[in-house]
Amino acid sequence: MSEGISLSGLSGSGKSSVARLLAERLGRPCRDTDAMIAQRVGEPAPSYLRRCGETAFREAERQALLDACGVPGAVIATGGGALNDPLGRWALMRHGLRVWLDAPIAQLVARLAADEEERPLLDGDAPAALARLAQERWPFYRASDLHVDAARAPESVADEIAARTDGARGGRLFDADLARHHPQGPASARVMMGIELSAVDLNDALGPLADRRRWVIADRRAARALPPLLDALQASARLEIIAGERAKRLRGVERVTRWLAEQRAERGDAVIAFGGGTTGDLVGMAAAIYARGAPLVQVPTTWLAQVDSALGGKVGVDLVAAKNALGAFWPAWAVVSDVAALRRQPARQLRNGLAEAIKSAIIGDPQLWQLIEERGVAALGDDEAARYAIGERAARVKLGVVERDPYEAGERRQLNLGHTVGHALEAESRYRLAHGEAVALGMRAAAAIAAGRGASGVQERLDSLLGSLGYRLRHAFDAGAVRSIIGLDKKRERGRQRWLLPMGIGQVADVDDVTDAEVDLALRAITETDR
Ligand SMILES: NC(=O)c1ccc[n+]([C@@H]2O[C@H](COP(=O)([O-])OP(=O)(O)OC[C@H]3O[C@@H](n4cnc5c(N)ncnc54)[C@H](O)[C@@H]3O)[C@@H](O)[C@H]2O)c1
Repeated sequence: MSEGISLSGLSGSGKSSVARLLAERLGRPCRDTDAMIAQRVGEPAPSYLRRCGETAFREAERQALLDACGVPGAVIATGGGALNDPLGRWALMRHGLRVWLDAPIAQLVARLAADEEERPLLDGDAPAALARLAQERWPFYRASDLHVDAARAPESVADEIAARTDGARGGRLFDADLARHHPQGPASARVMMGIELSAVDLNDALGPLADRRRWVIADRRAARALPPLLDALQASARLEIIAGERAKRLRGVERVTRWLAEQRAERGDAVIAFGGGTTGDLVGMAAAIYARGAPLVQVPTTWLAQVDSALGGKVGVDLVAAKNALGAFWPAWAVVSDVAALRRQPARQLRNGLAEAIKSAIIGDPQLWQLIEERGVAALGDDEAARYAIGERAARVKLGVVERDPYEAGERRQLNLGHTVGHALEAESRYRLAHGEAVALGMRAAAAIAAGRGASGVQERLDSLLGSLGYRLRHAFDAGAVRSIIGLDKKRERGRQRWLLPMGIGQVADVDDVTDAEVDLALRAITETDR
C-alpha cells in the first residue's frame, strides 16, 4: 500500500487548502480531483456539473479519483460525491490514510457564503442541502481512518494530520446506522462492511453489546476457513453447526436454544451468527425466540448472506413441504460483512450471491446492473474490488427497501423477484439446486411472463448477463410438482399468487393476475428440453 493520504468532507470543510498545506509540509505531490476534472473537461467542475448533469460529472469524478490514486504518496482532496462510489472508496483505501474533515454545518455555510465558487449541489437552501449530504455520506465518512476537527484554520488542521500520519489504517468501507423498526431492541442497527476487519472494528460494531457475553454459533466450514475473523469476535463460547438447507429445521432451533440455555445465556447477551444464509436464518430464528428475544448479530460469510439474507431482518426455518415457512421478523443489532471472507470460495457459491445482486440491480440500481455487466465475471474470479463494489451496491438496495418497508406491506415484496419459481425449484430438487441458481432460473421465468406483457428487452438482457456469468438458463424438473409447490408459496393473498415481474432494469411490477397459461409459458422458458 502506498503512503498516500486522502481528505474527504463536505463542501467548505477545507479539503483543497488543507491538502495543499499538508502536501507542502510532507513534501508530497498534491492532487485535487475537482481541479483534475476541470483540466479534463476544459471548464470548472461546477459548471460542467450544471451543464452535463450528475451522471456525467460522477463519471469524470471517478476517473479523476482513479488517476489521483495512481500517484504514489499523493495527498488527495476528494470531490464530495466520489465517496458514494464503492470503487472510489476502495481505491482511496488502497492509496493510504483516509482522513475525514468534519466541521459543523453552520460553519460550513458561513465559509461557503464568503466564497465565490459555484456549488450547484447546494442551490436553494444550503444548510438543508448540506445536512442531507452529511446524512447520506455519514456511512462513508465514519469509515475513514482518521476523524479530524476541521472547524479551525487550515494550517492547524494540516499540522494535526501531519502529526498523525502513522495512525492505524483499517479496512472499513461502509459504516451505517439503519433504522430498525422493531418494538423490541434498539432503534437502529449498525451495518459495517469492509475488508480484513479487526477486533476493534467488531467491538465498535457491537456498540452497547460489546460489554456483554458473546455466544457465537458458527458454520463449521466458515469457522475453519476464517480463523482471524472468528477470533476477532472474542466469543465467550462457540457452538459449531453443519450449515446447509437441512440445518434450517425446527430441530436445529431446538439445538441452538438448548445450547444457549446450557451456557446460561442471558437475555441481553449477544447471539452471533457466523456463516452463510442458512446459519443466519437458523440462528436468527433461535435468537428471536430465546428468552423472548435475544440480541442478534450477523457476521455473514457467504456472498449471498452479505448482499441479502443477513440484512433484511427476516429469520426462519423450513418445513419439509415449504421453504422458510416458519419465521419471524427479528432484525439484527449489528451486521458485519468482511469481503475477505469470500476469498477462495468456489464460483458456484459466489454465483448464489451474485444472483441476489442481479435481482437488486433489476429492482433499483441500473448502475449496479452495468457494473455487473462490466466486472461480474472478474468478481467471480480474483477481482476483490469488483466483488466488494457489487456486494455493497446490492446491499444498499436491500437496506433501502427494508428501511422503507420493514414488514413487507408493499415495496419490500419486490425482493421476492425470482423467488416464487426459485423456491419451488429448490424444493422440487430436494435442495440440490442452490438458492442462487434457482433464483436465476426464477428471474428468467418471471422475465418470460413480463415479456408477454410488453416488457421490452429485459428477457434478452437477463439471458445475456446470466449466460456470460455461467448460470444455467434451463433446468430439468417436474413441472407438475413445481406448479403445486408454487401453490404453497407464502406470497399469496386471498388465494391469489403474487408475482414480481421485471418490466425494465430498475422497474418491477407486483401483480396478482398471472394466468395458468402464463405460468406454463414461464416454466417452459426454463425447462431443459432434452429430458
Ligand atoms: N432471510 C432472508 O432474508 C434470506 C434471503 C435470501 C436467502 N436466504 C436463505 O439463505 C440460504 C442460502 O444461504 P447461503 O447460500 O449462504 O447458504 P449456506 O449457509 O448453506 O452456505 C453455503 C455453503 O457455504 C459454506 N460456507 C459458508 N461460509 C463459508 C466460507 N467463508 N468459506 C467457505 N465455505 C463457507 C457453508 O458451509 C455451506 O456449505 C437459503 O436458505 C435462503 O433461503 C434468506
